[in-house]
Amino acid sequence: MSGDSAPWSAATPRRWVAICARGLEEILEREARAAGLAVETAEAGGVAFRGTLADGLRANWRLRTANRVLLELASWPAPDDEALYRGARELLAGELAGLLGPERTFSVAATSGRSRVRDTRWVALKVKDGLVDGQRARFGERASVDRIDPDLALRVRLFEDRATLLADSSGEPLDRRGYRLETTAAPVREQLAAAAVLASGWDGLGPVVDPMCGSGTLLAEAGAIALGLAPNRLRARWAFERLPGFERAAFERLRAEPFPAPGPAVRLCGRDLDAQAVAAARRNLEAAGLGDRARIDLGDAFAFEPPPGPGLVAVNPPYGERLGAEGDAAWRRLGDLLKQRYRGWKAIVLAGGEGLGKHLGLKPVRRIPVRNGPLEARILVLDLW
Ligand SMILES: C[S@@+](CC[C@H](N)C(=O)[O-])C[C@H]1O[C@@H](n2cnc3c(N)ncnc32)[C@H](O)[C@@H]1O
Repeated sequence: MSGDSAPWSAATPRRWVAICARGLEEILEREARAAGLAVETAEAGGVAFRGTLADGLRANWRLRTANRVLLELASWPAPDDEALYRGARELLAGELAGLLGPERTFSVAATSGRSRVRDTRWVALKVKDGLVDGQRARFGERASVDRIDPDLALRVRLFEDRATLLADSSGEPLDRRGYRLETTAAPVREQLAAAAVLASGWDGLGPVVDPMCGSGTLLAEAGAIALGLAPNRLRARWAFERLPGFERAAFERLRAEPFPAPGPAVRLCGRDLDAQAVAAARRNLEAAGLGDRARIDLGDAFAFEPPPGPGLVAVNPPYGERLGAEGDAAWRRLGDLLKQRYRGWKAIVLAGGEGLGKHLGLKPVRRIPVRNGPLEARILVLDLW
């Protein structure tokens, strides 16, 4: 390599951003601190921390509520497309040449907000052109673009005429845990389910009941938290494996580190009225390695007698689309069920769409507004005294 800057080093502390669904920032921040990451700021849709590549791996491995973990590479003023291009090209003159060299295939995606250059495809193209021209100038050759499976998936965020270049260190989004082999109508996202359990203040003791369990996501996430299982323990591929400086032995050591496991004897009980949901939940919990802890039966939530508690009752009812008095009555009935059968338990209700759980007849200890994909949702945390 020509040039006189210090080479790229995986041991250099850098800025990373773990991104999450809007509304989960505070829960993610707490998780990041508990994982030993040096949190800098919680911002809309994410948490920034400083760390080495090893810390980036740790974030990917431990965070249950993040969507992905991005490594910040550079930031420069970009009021027009020429500045966007030049800033990208100049990156190849410095240490980033060790990462952005011609030997790695790459892709560039872009977002733009409150900036003069608004066309995101144009933003991505200008940055790509800058990078490959910088590569040609420094190395005499350029990298290939691979949109499907690049070695380096780059993102440019243009915000208020400032460009920030980030590299994805996760690959598949972190909610693709690998246990959801079968899905049912309206499953809850894995990070949202994990966030609800983390927000509940549950101590990990006693059984977990989801009386309307669908495909079993809340049970799978609560079980993993109680037993201290890594959220993405089933995943075989990570984007960080292709970053320079990645050491498999270090990753294996990280994988072997224990998580807190507050509920080693946890039992998971699910119910659903729909036989397909019951079959899906059984299969998914089996795939998650939780089959021997779980009992999923066909039946009505309102006829289910929970095991001795207290424990955690988690429910994501299907009342989203119902309108008017019928929906209100369904919520009230669920509230009554929780009050009567789960006294002394911690409860979480995931409410989406119309109503958002306003008619439960119980006062939540916490009400956390979140985005569940394109939908508005609420995590309601209840203490059933
Ligand atoms: C929104 S889905 C739950 C999705 C689940 N959290 C998941 O991740 O797959 C609601 C579920 O409640 C079930 N359900 C509706 N009424 C029920 C009742 N009275 N008793 C038991 N299950 C019920 C439906 O069959 C559906 O599977």
